[in-house]
Amino acid sequence: MKKIQISPSILSADFSQLGNEIKRLEEGGADMIHVDVMDGHFVPNLTIGPDVIKQIRPFSDKIFDVHLMISPVDKYIEQFANAGADIITFHPEATKNTAETIKLIRKFKKKVGISLKPKSEISLIRDYLDKIDLVLIMSVEPGFGGQKFMPEVLPKLKELKKIIDKEKYNVDLEIDGGINFQNSKTAKEAGANILVSGSTIFKENSGDLKKNINLLREN
Ligand code: DX5
Ligand code: ZN
Repeated sequence: MKKIQISPSILSADFSQLGNEIKRLEEGGADMIHVDVMDGHFVPNLTIGPDVIKQIRPFSDKIFDVHLMISPVDKYIEQFANAGADIITFHPEATKNTAETIKLIRKFKKKVGISLKPKSEISLIRDYLDKIDLVLIMSVEPGFGGQKFMPEVLPKLKELKKIIDKEKYNVDLEIDGGINFQNSKTAKEAGANILVSGSTIFKENSGDLKKNINLLREN
């Protein structure tokens, strides 16, 4: 049974204080830091790029779990790798050749994640499960924090867990979008061992990061 890890999304953090916010997350017990990169093309929102990641890198030794919602993605992999990303997760719809993108991330000695949007099928990634470290299941349409959890992605999560267990792949299952204290247990029971959360962690219990991270981990 894989250890449950919490990866708070800084999309809901105070962007004018990103370095300190990351320090607060580490002090609050975050297992890794989820960094949502958006290009206004793959998703209708724009956030941060490699230069910002380079500047926030020194604020924590925690794993930077970088979620690239950008396309085309290949030409930016090197910059994110050099900026300090530890896990680089991409969307298969953002590349012409998934196997090549995996190889490119491996070339920079980074962990490889592939993300499935709510309507993206397992068939998009089935042939790569033995070559990657993580599948990021989106439980909202990518682009914004604070959206409502989409329970219709749970059967896909369960199916992936079944495949990974049967084939004994060493792949983490991360769920991302609308995770809160009411659905975190359901998500873990469905097979997720990494929970991403932005608004629940930063906004609930008057923004008590430690309490919210522990509640998600333990609930
Ligand atoms: C959405 C991002 C998610 C989002 C999670 O495109 O990938 O990581 O920031 O935020 P909440 O937890 O507020 O849904
Ligand atoms: Zn994300």
